[in-house]
Amino acid sequence: MIELAFSILASDFAHLADEVAAAERGGGTIVHVDIMDGHFVPNITFGPAMVKALRPVTKLPLDCHLMIENPDQFIPDFAEAGADFVSVHQEACRHLYRTLQLIEQHGMRPAVVINPATPVEMLIEVLPMVHHVLVMSVNPGFGGQKFLPLALDKIEHLAELRTEMGLNYRIEVDGGVAHDTVARVVEAGADMLVAGSAVFSPGRTEQNARELLRLAREAGAADAEAGAGQAGTAGTQPED
Ligand code: DX5
Ligand code: ZN
Repeated sequence: MIELAFSILASDFAHLADEVAAAERGGGTIVHVDIMDGHFVPNITFGPAMVKALRPVTKLPLDCHLMIENPDQFIPDFAEAGADFVSVHQEACRHLYRTLQLIEQHGMRPAVVINPATPVEMLIEVLPMVHHVLVMSVNPGFGGQKFLPLALDKIEHLAELRTEMGLNYRIEVDGGVAHDTVARVVEAGADMLVAGSAVFSPGRTEQNARELLRLAREAGAADAEAGAGQAGTAGTQPED
């Protein structure tokens, strides 16, 4: 199922609960929370206190994207704050396997993220233990950046690996996902779509979310139909 993980980084923080409610009315089903520490990325946002404040205002899963050094140190705090999914950057974890185990041990769903310069191959060993893989389609740190098409091949590769390895992790994409790029990421195989600036804008958040999801689901349906068409053609090959 294709889901919209709306990134509150682009929302109006002074009215956060209303912003979340508007994106949810538009069909968003995951709250994406970008945690930045000013070290791993050149920007500072918020921490576990923000997750704790969000917890009572929505029933949707809180998807915490940790762009921080030493994530292990903060995992218990995110668990206590009410996080559902916690994703950590492959580039930030010296002992990635241990960090993912730690997230799981704290009752949350572990996920791993790769920057634009990191190949999918770096994740092979941990794919069986993650709820999802997050492919960055911008350099992490800021909203509103231009989509990097190199993410498309990585999404396709992850979808192939999932089949080959008999796994069921989900594929999330983050950065520059908007009305003009969403069809391509869905066709490549992403099914958790992070979007910030394409969703949040004063008075238009609900309809932005709805429209983005409509475009995503149309692309998904067209893709499924094309796949079925190919299978049908293969199935009707004359025997010789
Ligand atoms: C960037 C963050 C993103 C960001 C996406 O480092 O991880 O989640 O909010 O913003 P848009 O959708 O505006 O590219
Ligand atoms: Zn993010």
